[in-house]
Amino acid sequence: MKIISVVGARPNFMKIAPFIEAIKKHNQISGNHIEHFLVHTGQHYDDRMSRYFFEQLEIPEADINLGVGSGSHAEQVGNTMIEFEKVLREKNPDWVVVVGDVNAILACSVTAKKEQILCCHIEAGLRSGDMSMPEEINRLVADRISDLLLTPDRLSSENLRKEGVPDDKIRFTGNIMIDTLEKNRNKADKLDIKEIIRSNSVDGSHINTNNSFDHGFAVMTLHRPSNVDRKAVLEPIVRFMIDEVCSTMPLIWTIHPRTRKMLETFGLLKEVMSHSNLVLLEPLGYLEMLKLNMKARIILTDSGGLQEECTVLGTPCLTLRWNTERPITLSEHGGASVLVGNNIDLIREEYKKAIKKPRLPVSPELWDGHTADRCLSAILEFKQAT
Ligand code: UD1
Repeated sequence: MKIISVVGARPNFMKIAPFIEAIKKHNQISGNHIEHFLVHTGQHYDDRMSRYFFEQLEIPEADINLGVGSGSHAEQVGNTMIEFEKVLREKNPDWVVVVGDVNAILACSVTAKKEQILCCHIEAGLRSGDMSMPEEINRLVADRISDLLLTPDRLSSENLRKEGVPDDKIRFTGNIMIDTLEKNRNKADKLDIKEIIRSNSVDGSHINTNNSFDHGFAVMTLHRPSNVDRKAVLEPIVRFMIDEVCSTMPLIWTIHPRTRKMLETFGLLKEVMSHSNLVLLEPLGYLEMLKLNMKARIILTDSGGLQEECTVLGTPCLTLRWNTERPITLSEHGGASVLVGNNIDLIREEYKKAIKKPRLPVSPELWDGHTADRCLSAILEFKQAT
């Protein structure tokens, strides 16, 4: 069997690492050899957004890099399709495997199906219901056309059934990203927080080396266009962080390239960089971010992956979004996260409650570190409906 798996952007890397590991294990013990090729679309290209993850997670270098880079969505998707089609025609795989919800999965699932190649979507069935999110469009398309849909939780399987997907296409396999978390927890725990800060602070930003991180700190990540692309939304969030979070505890903000550009455009970057209780860091490697999550008193984020990691680690999490495709991470389902959108009054109210909460780790069903093996078995056992 020949499989091509695809990655494009940062959140894909921690999902593909265990899948590649599962293929390696399979090849060591089974006579039924799987030939595997890894394709990187090149959407994320900075070392900090890509290469660091390959190194830390021991992902073999991509066999093919499509070099798509930045651009509008149409440019990213269109260029990926043009290049990926050439790869498919040359390699002629049995399966294309896509993970998550970034532009690569839309481009590559469509291209695979047009070439009559079987397509498997890992992390299928997540739905925010918010069609203004590019990721929601990517998920809907990939799930509609893929042959095998591997879901992280039963709510996602149910979403697919409601959309009319037949049962034989759906397999509940668990959350593959948690495989990576479980594998790397101990390694991450050995890192030193002050060292993480020293070696990753944004050039020219103020670092207060007297800050004690032992008594609790907050961590923030923001990258969604809905939070960072308009000054009227981003500025009040920044004000709240500076005036109300930084006055209670140090805030570590790991800054996504999109957000940094917008802070600069809106004339806010200088103030953020010079605040004594706000530590501005470059995008972190996987292990460094995991360590911060393990020790933070609270995380404020608009990342879906962090919501999931906070649930497993028990870190109180304010999700700066009005909806989520991952309801299983919400407090009403036993998770660690609360939706606060970008309404400052709501953020304030929930912040005050969250910093009083104890750490409460929860492992939803099949978030057990063995999802990748189940994903590979599902592919190997797949029988096409006739
Ligand atoms: C993408 C994904 C999103 C994911 C996020 C994680 C889509 C539709 N969105 O959003 O689901 O949660 O990644 O990071 O696929 N840039 C750099 N260096 C890089 C990569 C990007 O400077 O290595 C810049 C780009 O030039 C662009 C901005 O960052 O201006 C945003 O990058 P883009 O790839 O458009 O999407 P993300 O916002 O990162």
